[in-house]
Amino acid sequence: MAWYDHAIIYQLYPKSFQDSNGDGIGDLNGIRARIPYLKALGITAVWLNPVFTSPQVDNGYDVANYYAIDPTMGTMADMDALIAAFHAAGIHVILDFVLNHTSDQHPWFQDALRGADSLYRDYYIFAGHEGKRPSNWGSFFGGSVWAPDPSGSGQSYFHLFDRRMPDLNWANPEVRHAMGDVADYWLQKGVDGLRLDAFIHIAKAKLDQDFPDAVPAATPVLAEPFYANLPQVQTWLRPFCRRLKTDYPDVFLLGEAASANVNLAAAYTAPDAGLMDSVVTFRYFPDDLSGLDPQLPTQYQEHPLDLPAFKQTQAVWQQTLAGLAQPTLYWSNHDMPRLGTRVAHSAQQAQSLAMLMYLQRGLPIIYYGEELGLTNLQLPDAAAFGDPTVTAFVTEATAAGMTPEAAVKLVSTTHKLPARGPMPWDDGAQRGFTTGTPWLTGAAAPVASVAAQAADPTSSLAFYQQLIALKKRPLFQDGDYHLLTTAETSYVYTRQLGSALAVVAVALGATTTVTLPQGHYHALLTSGAVHLAGPQLTLGEDAGVVLIREGAIE
Ligand code: GLC
Ligand code: CA
Repeated sequence: MAWYDHAIIYQLYPKSFQDSNGDGIGDLNGIRARIPYLKALGITAVWLNPVFTSPQVDNGYDVANYYAIDPTMGTMADMDALIAAFHAAGIHVILDFVLNHTSDQHPWFQDALRGADSLYRDYYIFAGHEGKRPSNWGSFFGGSVWAPDPSGSGQSYFHLFDRRMPDLNWANPEVRHAMGDVADYWLQKGVDGLRLDAFIHIAKAKLDQDFPDAVPAATPVLAEPFYANLPQVQTWLRPFCRRLKTDYPDVFLLGEAASANVNLAAAYTAPDAGLMDSVVTFRYFPDDLSGLDPQLPTQYQEHPLDLPAFKQTQAVWQQTLAGLAQPTLYWSNHDMPRLGTRVAHSAQQAQSLAMLMYLQRGLPIIYYGEELGLTNLQLPDAAAFGDPTVTAFVTEATAAGMTPEAAVKLVSTTHKLPARGPMPWDDGAQRGFTTGTPWLTGAAAPVASVAAQAADPTSSLAFYQQLIALKKRPLFQDGDYHLLTTAETSYVYTRQLGSALAVVAVALGATTTVTLPQGHYHALLTSGAVHLAGPQLTLGEDAGVVLIREGAIE
């Protein structure tokens, strides 16, 4: 049993957690000052989004130096102090490890731009000639994956994300080795785990073939089958992961596998695969697209969660990974709107959904502020997103008859950036996040601060504390998961360990009833209106309950 088999992870977005020097940007010393809060919450590990030297084109995912801390975050001494303080508090530290690409300001890329003679030319992916793009593949951040070599060679370089984030060439063994050295540096420092950012993209198909699609060949199209989850991903990462696991047997390798389906997740995390311990998939949340407005571009319209499909998805992931690996359990992260914006229409529903998610088998990853019921900010205008796809959406939506204000309001509920707002610590100026002006500002729903919630036993924070305490019981860590057959309007499962049995029952909408397995039960945690009469459980709208069967020993 490794420490991470029972980890309860808190995803901490360093820019928005706590500012310590008044520049409006959260930093390492700010985080350190808040460790008592995290300890009281009960989490056992933190995952920090990137804190390395970066021009901040993509909030730190564009790394210019893997061996140094970004000056806005603090110094290496601050980082060492932070890691030591987390460890003293019994909290493990997981760092974001950006391995698919670097910043264009990274010395490797700067050297590569010197031309074909550079020793680093083959660290990146240069292709084509005479300024012609090798293929029609589209970038996740809009436009083509190809950008012209600025040094004028007539070649193009490959970037799956922003053009200032060139992809590393993992086909080159030197790159694989160099990235292993980076990981080694941090693990030697005592970091306990790495989140392998966008690892599923390190292998690309033959570069000079267009992706067959209906749109004219010159228009860039997303071509995921050509650059996601290719078999070489596993071939190249296996020695990389083995090296880390050999040198640091306790290291936790958490992969970000956005488009991995459950079978790929199994392939990435099975114990004999020699790869990762767990992965985060984005396939957890099937969208209900039936309400889309055909007049508007789909990207930033609301995509409500299809609850019956979601229930099925959860059950499938639980069953497929049973006995094999730990699924991750999460509701939001920095790349999607917050739970309270995207799915839950009330604080109480958010709590029921948290109960449903985190008491399943697997590793909770709680996105900072979720425990308070935080929702997305409402950003003031299209420019505030700093994202050309938003400007394009607002232009198109306006042409289709929407007001620009309404379009910006809509994007504020569907875009990732408004999910990264400052943590509300108290009720003073800037809610205790900073004495200056927060790096990201916008209208916020009136969510009670940490200070207020800590003093209120009925708060969302108090609920999460109880939920996390429950999750630490062996029954919810090691117990078997079993789906109960109930109406589409509820998601009900049991966790069983020896003779101990718990039922987790959540209404997926209107009031619903459930017949319980034999036995007498009492409630350990409730959210909303719940009524128990013999084997009949009635759940009010969006209500949830955790029941334990009496008389058994856990
Ligand atoms: C991952 C990160 C995302 C980032 C991208 C590029 O998907 O979660 O925030 O933009 O990788 O590094
Ligand atoms: Ca700061």
